[in-house]
Amino acid sequence: MYNTFPIEKLNKVETPFYYYNMRLLDNTLKVIKQEADKYDYHIHYAVKANANKRILERVNAFGFGADCVSGNEVSASLAAGFPNSKVVFAGVGKADKEIITGLENDIACFNVESIPELEVIDEIAARMKKTARVALRINPNVKANTHKYITTGLEENKFGIYLWDLEKVLDKVKQLDNIKFVGIHFHIGSQINDLDSYKMLCTRINELQELFVKRRNIPTIINVGGGLGIDYENPDENPMPDFEAFFKIFDDFLELKKGQEVHFELGRSVVGQCGTLMSKVLYVKEGINTDFAIIDAGMSDLIRPALYQAYHKIENLTSEHEENKYDVVGPICESSDCFGKAVSLPATVRGDLIAIRSAGAYGEVMANQYNLRPLPIAIYSDEME
Ligand code: LLP
Repeated sequence: MYNTFPIEKLNKVETPFYYYNMRLLDNTLKVIKQEADKYDYHIHYAVKANANKRILERVNAFGFGADCVSGNEVSASLAAGFPNSKVVFAGVGKADKEIITGLENDIACFNVESIPELEVIDEIAARMKKTARVALRINPNVKANTHKYITTGLEENKFGIYLWDLEKVLDKVKQLDNIKFVGIHFHIGSQINDLDSYKMLCTRINELQELFVKRRNIPTIINVGGGLGIDYENPDENPMPDFEAFFKIFDDFLELKKGQEVHFELGRSVVGQCGTLMSKVLYVKEGINTDFAIIDAGMSDLIRPALYQAYHKIENLTSEHEENKYDVVGPICESSDCFGKAVSLPATVRGDLIAIRSAGAYGEVMANQYNLRPLPIAIYSDEME
C-alpha cells in the first residue's frame, strides 16, 4: 500500500495543504523508465501538471526531459536541474520574450503550431544569431474519448497545424534560414483511458510519414504527446496506469523510419496519484436531501471538480463511525464550489481530516486566490518520516 497516510502527523499541519507521496512518485518514475527503456523511448515530463521544485527534481533524477508551455516553465525546469538539451517548449501562443528565453538557453526544441509563429521564431533567432530547432505540432484529427474541455487533437480545436496545411508549412520551413526542422509533434488529449485512441494516432502518423518520405525530409523526432489517464475511482487499487500496455501500443503500431526517435510528454500519469488535497471539516450543516460537510479547502485550491465536473475520491481519514451521505463543499461564494454530491462518508464532525485523492496533477498548479484566499502549501511524505 502506497497511500497509508501518517494521520497523526498530518493532523498537526494547518489545512488545507497538498500532501505528496514521494515513494509513489519514485515508484511511478521507476516503472515508466523501465517500460520506456525497453524500446529506447524518450520521456519528457509535462511540467504543467505539477511544477513544484521537489517534483521536478525527482523527475529529473530519473533522466527524463521537461515539456514546457511557458517561458517560466522553461526557467523552472532549468533551475530544477533539467539539462537544456532535454527541455522542449510547446504552446499555441508563445510570447516574444518567452521565445528569447528558449533561444538564450539553447533548448532542445520548440513545438510550433502555425506559420506566423514560425516566422516570429525565425526573426528572433536571426537577431540573436541562433538556429531554432523546431518540431511541427500537427493536428491529427483523432478523437480521444475524454472530456470535451481536454480533447485537443480534433480539427475544431485551436491546437496544431491542420493536415491540409502541412505541405505549405513544410515549404515555409525550408525558406527560413534560422529554423531547423527536427520533428513532428502530436497530442490528442488528456485523461485518455481507451488505448485504441493511441492506435488511431499511430495509424495517422504512419500515413503521414509517406508525405515526409515523398519530400525526402524525414523528421528525427516523433513526439506522440501525453494524455494517459489515471484511475480516479480506485487510487489505492491502481496507483499507476498500465505503462507496459501503453508503450507496447506504440511498439506494435507505430512504423518508424531509420534513425527516428519516439518522444512522449506525460503529465497526469506521472504525478496524479501522488498528490492528495488535505482539508478539515469546518462545519456540518443539515440539508434537505443530504447534509453538507463544509471543509476548509475550496475550488481555489482544487478547481477540477468545478471546472470539468471531475470526480475525485473523498475520504474521511479520522472518523470510523457509521456511514452517512454528505455534499462535500468548500467555503467559496459559488455553488460550484463542491467536491462531491451525496458522498458516502463515515459520520463526520468538525475537525475531521478529509482527503481529496488523485490531486497531484492539475491541482496545486491550477490553484488561485479567488476570495483572497491564500495559496495551499505543499508537504512531502519524506518530510514526515
Ligand atoms: N503535451 C501537450 C501538448 C499537452 O497539451 C498536455 C496537456 C500534455 C502533453 C500532458 O498531458 P497529460 O499526460 O497530463 O494528460 N487541466 C486539465 C488537463 C489539461 C491538459 C492540458 N494538456 C485537467 O485538470 O484535467
